[in-house]
Amino acid sequence: MVFGVGNIHADILFIGEAPGADEDSMGEPFVGKAGELLTRIITAMGLTRDQVYIANVLKCRPDTPGQFSGNRKPNPEEMATCLPFLQEQIELIRPKVLIALGATAIEGILGTSPIQVTKVRGQWMQFRNIPLMPTFHPAYLLRNESVTEKRKVWEDMMAVMEQIGMPISEKQRRFFTKPA
Ligand code: URA
Ligand code: URA
Repeated sequence: MVFGVGNIHADILFIGEAPGADEDSMGEPFVGKAGELLTRIITAMGLTRDQVYIANVLKCRPDTPGQFSGNRKPNPEEMATCLPFLQEQIELIRPKVLIALGATAIEGILGTSPIQVTKVRGQWMQFRNIPLMPTFHPAYLLRNESVTEKRKVWEDMMAVMEQIGMPISEKQRRFFTKPA
């Protein structure tokens, strides 16, 4: 089981989809390639993984029957089964803001599908009266290396920083803007 990691007094709670192979073996969310990118995003915000909280909708790796390993999308039943654990994490941590990473995480937490992340990202939603920022999954940014897409996620992170009253430096504001 991959429960979650970070600070139980965090202002920011990142929500992913489900553990992958690396997370499954380490027992910690976001420690593989996508996790390394998430860590870089957190660092760019001026924070460490110890200052935020990171969890997934699913607490176990979705298994793929007939195969040794798989990375399939969790099904609605699995997400509904695991959601009470995430809800309890949110109740206990009471973060100021939630960040949902990717369509599956957004679908899982809101219980609605399908969600088109390209349409909803960057627009504030709510979950149990807590502001929820939907954005792209870091794995998407690894597949799509374009600066434009990175900038979109970064703008979403700056909106989160503004929401909770974190200062944003001039250098941070310029991240992923093309040089003039
Ligand atoms: N600062 C922190 O220390 N934690 C957060 O989650 C956000 C800002
Ligand atoms: N992708 C996720 O959504 N969650 C993880 O923990 C790792 C990769």
